[in-house]
Amino acid sequence: MVPADVVPADVVPADVVPADVTRQAAGAVQYSADTTCSPYTSDERIRSMTIKHVGVVGAGLMGSGIAQTIAQAGYDVVLMEVNQELLDRGLARVHGAWRMLAGKGKVTEAQAKEYGGRIRGTLNLQEFGDRDLVIEAIIENMDEKKKLFSALDAILPAEALLVSNTSSLPIIEMASVTGRQERVAGLHFFNPAPVMKLVEIVRTIATSEATITTLRDFSTSLGKTPIIAKDTAGFVVNFLLIPYMLAAVRMYENGLATKEDIDTGMKLGCGYPMGPFELLDYVGLDTTLYAAEAIYKEYPDPAYAPPTLLRRMVQAGRYGKKNGKGFYVGVEQ
Ligand SMILES: NC(=O)c1ccc[n+]([C@@H]2O[C@H](COP(=O)([O-])OP(=O)(O)OC[C@H]3O[C@@H](n4cnc5c(N)ncnc54)[C@H](O)[C@@H]3O)[C@@H](O)[C@H]2O)c1
Repeated sequence: MVPADVVPADVVPADVVPADVTRQAAGAVQYSADTTCSPYTSDERIRSMTIKHVGVVGAGLMGSGIAQTIAQAGYDVVLMEVNQELLDRGLARVHGAWRMLAGKGKVTEAQAKEYGGRIRGTLNLQEFGDRDLVIEAIIENMDEKKKLFSALDAILPAEALLVSNTSSLPIIEMASVTGRQERVAGLHFFNPAPVMKLVEIVRTIATSEATITTLRDFSTSLGKTPIIAKDTAGFVVNFLLIPYMLAAVRMYENGLATKEDIDTGMKLGCGYPMGPFELLDYVGLDTTLYAAEAIYKEYPDPAYAPPTLLRRMVQAGRYGKKNGKGFYVGVEQ
């Protein structure tokens, strides 16, 4: 019998606040007025302004973690959901994380209260009319994202930035339904957003240099390290990580080694904190399958073709840690 939770405690810290977050200044990021690298005319330049008010759409796993991170860093945050129950659940996750941090003495009670005062929920998109930056973190569905981008474009101030946290969909397709293509980009956080240090900033063929500079400064102000990726399926990290995980599934499927030995091999032989099957359970088998399909659609290279076993696991409803059924979790050995 394998323990229900095989993710090593030190890999996924229980603490959901970056150690350096308390030093973040209540924050304001200056838009860069330097558009010398921009392919756009002066009319299309982003005017110099300050990011203070941020909107996050979708209070699921990622949206709530992103909203928490941003409120902690000193920004005013409005978090939007489709119904009250999901909104309450997302806000409860955020406030619960702050209570836990205060309980452990990682932040003071006063800080937790201050963070809480900077976030509010809404069911009404019209409340985004004063936002400088909106981060979309809704379900991974292009039609839904395009509907949202079109609606937000009509509501947001002309100079506001609109970014997507998508893991696999083309950002330019979302930008195409707006009148602000140069102010649309990807801002890809990793799970859990308050802990993981990396942010991928995704530059489309239309994103202006000023937008990239602003997002770089914004990410840094959150205590994150940004990297810049082109708007291609998988960006940087998933383009490399997905074929690695798929290769591990193929090895196991073909009986070349047990999943335990493959995990041990990669942890002890390469110094990886988790083996590929532990990682698959943690990331989500369904999420990995959809990301692989999206990359394979753009690059029909066999390395990105999802193995049959992965499809069957997802068809069987084995999504990993998120629903307690995966390669290890919920499996009798
Ligand atoms: N889960 C991950 O590890 C991960 C990592 C990085 C990026 N992402 C990306 O982040 C996005 C969200 O993923 P998630 O795992 O948080 O999903 P999730 O299912 O946990 O949350 C999505 C939330 O969006 C809400 N929603 C849907 N349509 C909406 C709308 N029109 N307005 C407001 N809210 C709406 C849903 O009710 C749901 O609560 C996806 O694009 C995904 O690809 C996920």
